[in-house]
Amino acid sequence: MESWVQDIEFERHGRLRRLVRTVISNPIANYLPAVMLKGLLRFGKSDLAMSNWKDPGGWRSMVISYDGNPTQIADRILVKSGAMSTALRNRRRLGARLLARLIDESPSEPAHVLCLGAGPGRIIMDAMNQADRDSFATLVDLSSDAFEYGRSNARNEGLIDRVHFIQGDVRDVKQMLDRPPDIVKMLGICEYLTDEQIVDIVRSAAEVMPAGSSIVFNSLSLAHGTNRFFRRVFGLHMNHRTPEHLECLFGSAGFADFVSHEEPLGVYHVIVGRRKPAPESNDEKGSS
Ligand SMILES: C[S@@+](CC[C@H](N)C(=O)[O-])C[C@H]1O[C@@H](n2cnc3c(N)ncnc32)[C@H](O)[C@@H]1O
Repeated sequence: MESWVQDIEFERHGRLRRLVRTVISNPIANYLPAVMLKGLLRFGKSDLAMSNWKDPGGWRSMVISYDGNPTQIADRILVKSGAMSTALRNRRRLGARLLARLIDESPSEPAHVLCLGAGPGRIIMDAMNQADRDSFATLVDLSSDAFEYGRSNARNEGLIDRVHFIQGDVRDVKQMLDRPPDIVKMLGICEYLTDEQIVDIVRSAAEVMPAGSSIVFNSLSLAHGTNRFFRRVFGLHMNHRTPEHLECLFGSAGFADFVSHEEPLGVYHVIVGRRKPAPESNDEKGSS
């Protein structure tokens, strides 16, 4: 799987940029009074701040970072040079590449990709565009807020007939599908959930997944260096976990054979796991 990701054009921060981040920008962001930073962001009409204040960690702020080209000066500083936004764009590239390869490897064509906490579906649409083989996607989100934007992207990219948006709680996913998924995508959601919520969701997904099918998710580390800023200024309380911690949670819900890929800033790992075969029931054992 390593060769799948070797040629991705990641964004990297050189030594000087890392030094400036550590010695100047992160301490300012983390320790300047929150009221002052909020005032500056409000004065600078920061879209990134406004969308986080409205919906902390929601899909809109993600799209601003993914696009990487905001108009306001405050956003340009945060999005272009902030470690978190850069790492998000790297995660987008890494996630899309892995999903495209899984689509190409899938035993079914078209492959069915189920996206949990999908937002507007940016990463899966990148993957569908990159894959050589045919696929379609079911995108589930609690909020239908992102769907109009997602549909408009899908229309522009010729994917509108291959994406199906469903508003609902991903724990009810069993009732939403008429065909089992070949791949399940859970990028950009675990960091907003507790361990218990993750296990609940992953168990529900496992119930509809055939043995050997793939699940793609991500960890989040503190390497971005601005957790204090996100908590105080954006009201964003994210759960940082190692890949091993998440693999343990996903393992307890029926997955194994994890392979983990780190993006160059060390903020995110994108991890692929496989659905374990269901254990034989005692009845089946007895009758064989
Ligand atoms: C940060 S956004 C990420 C969107 C997208 N996955 C991405 O990476 O661009 C997280 C999304 O998860 C959704 N979400 C959180 N808990 C959920 C649940 N239990 N069921 C469905 N959606 C959920 C939120 O509504 C939100 O749109």
